Amino acid sequence: MKIVHTFDDVRSVSAGSVGLVPTMGFLHEGHMSLIGAASHQDDTVVVSIFVNPMQFNETSDLDGYPRDLDRDAFLAEEAGADVLFAPDASHMYPSEQRATVTVAHVAESMEGVHRPGHFAGVATVVAKLLAGVRPDNAYFGRKDAQQLAVVTTMARELSFPTRIVGLTTVREPDGLALASRNVRLDPDRRQSALKVSEALFDAADAFEAGQRTTEALVGIALDRLALGKDLNVEYVEAARVEDATPIATIETESFLALAARVGGVRIIDNVHLDPDTGIADRGTRLTAPSILYGGS
Ligand code: PAJ
Repeated sequence: MKIVHTFDDVRSVSAGSVGLVPTMGFLHEGHMSLIGAASHQDDTVVVSIFVNPMQFNETSDLDGYPRDLDRDAFLAEEAGADVLFAPDASHMYPSEQRATVTVAHVAESMEGVHRPGHFAGVATVVAKLLAGVRPDNAYFGRKDAQQLAVVTTMARELSFPTRIVGLTTVREPDGLALASRNVRLDPDRRQSALKVSEALFDAADAFEAGQRTTEALVGIALDRLALGKDLNVEYVEAARVEDATPIATIETESFLALAARVGGVRIIDNVHLDPDTGIADRGTRLTAPSILYGGS
């Protein structure tokens, strides 16, 4: 695997079809599943690692974001990456950023309400990555379902030739969705955080039993969340997969999404609800604790 720091170098070491996996590093099995999928599909797999200041609302979150390039290089290669692209902030933002990308409507519900400006930061950096790397395919997790809708809409409407691929959520053996920020949870807070996935699974069970009303599904989730100590819920909402429009009844492919804070850590998660099949996608679970906790 080659480690490069500029777009020119990414393109000069890439050959054949190119798959891009954009990340902010501190990799875990969720990122690795995207890299693995890319390595099955594409000749060259590029993993980008860039903690994008433009998408952070809080300096403390940006400053506290875990970083370890040596660890990431090892894991990216193990998962099947050919190129690790780790640009400096001065390469991604050489001057004041005047051109930004906003995605109306799709970016305005849920996360858009609670993290103003966040998706403009995401859409802008992903646009730069697509323009600079020029991948055939780019891989994103459904764990960030609204982000996936924002990126898909942006790529389609701005005529990026890249195909956007969305892949299912990877979870700890007990159900907690993997997230780099989880390393900041102490054992007590981790127990509270677990209520997030449990709440979504309760709602997923009700959906599979025939419940199609958002109000009822949200109520079921909130009952479980109330058991979490020091868990502050920001929202629980159902929205369409296609454009993240909040909905009152699950009639098309949707997701039930949730954001909560425990201690200083913000957690987001969702389950996919497909009314055509009546099946809820709860993601996949690891059989052993994640590498986030020091194992390998
Ligand atoms: P980051 O949080 O590092 O996530 C990188 C990619 O991994 C995203 O597509 C995310 O949805 C996916 N991912 C994270 N946790 C996952 C899990 N448990 N299972 C499956 N996939 C998971 O999302 C970002 O970075 C940034 O916003 C980025 C797109 C890189 C733009 O800066």
